[in-house]
Amino acid sequence: MINFAHRGASGDYPENTLLAFKEGIKAGANGLELDVHKTKDGKLVVIHDEDVERTFQARGLVKDLTLDELRALTCRKQLFKDSKECRVPTLEEVLELVKKHPVTLNIELKTDVIPYNRIEEDVIRLIKAYQVQDQILISSFNPKSIKRCKEIAPYIKTGFLYHKPIDQVIQYAKSLQADAIHPDLKLVSEALIKEAHENQLEVNIYTVNSPIYMRKLIAAGADGIFTDYPALLNEIMEEE
Ligand code: G3P
Ligand code: CA
Repeated sequence: MINFAHRGASGDYPENTLLAFKEGIKAGANGLELDVHKTKDGKLVVIHDEDVERTFQARGLVKDLTLDELRALTCRKQLFKDSKECRVPTLEEVLELVKKHPVTLNIELKTDVIPYNRIEEDVIRLIKAYQVQDQILISSFNPKSIKRCKEIAPYIKTGFLYHKPIDQVIQYAKSLQADAIHPDLKLVSEALIKEAHENQLEVNIYTVNSPIYMRKLIAAGADGIFTDYPALLNEIMEEE
């Protein structure tokens, strides 16, 4: 099973930063999850919200800021505000890290929030440049992005994200040619996991921080769990 450090080890470190990704790997995660947006000057950056305000000491939309402007921002968490590893990372920096470790990287395209022009092409170009195709799983809440990625690079795995019930979700994911479904924890059942597997779809569930649900999902045959606490999930995975 893949233990995805959700936005890195974001329960203890500033989310979506190089520090959080490195700490996720140290904690034993065999997967990392991150969110991608595009800057004003067309660079791919790793940040969850379209607005910098929640995580950095500044205001503004990622799409209206240049990479240099974003890199100058200070992290909101006081304890980490002086750390160079707590600035907005570029996707390239994370790919460089991932290339050195045997981990799966889930790249979430935030195109449900802002329909960034040709972001699928840009992300796949970088994945190919770093030759990390086999380590990547691209996901999105936007079905058009899943379809587009499969058109450009059918050999890169994709996962369809959803947070509310969808009729016939397995058939729908298959129609997108997705390799996995990524449901919110509240939408998962053992029957869904079984049906997905019968249809050659993997099931990766978000965001699971409770040991009770971690154990239930492992027993139900989950293929991956996204957690803010990868060390905790790692301990539970190591239980008999
Ligand atoms: O990919 C799982 C999860 O990250 C989706 O929700 O809001 O944390 O990006 P969110
Ligand atoms: Ca995400």
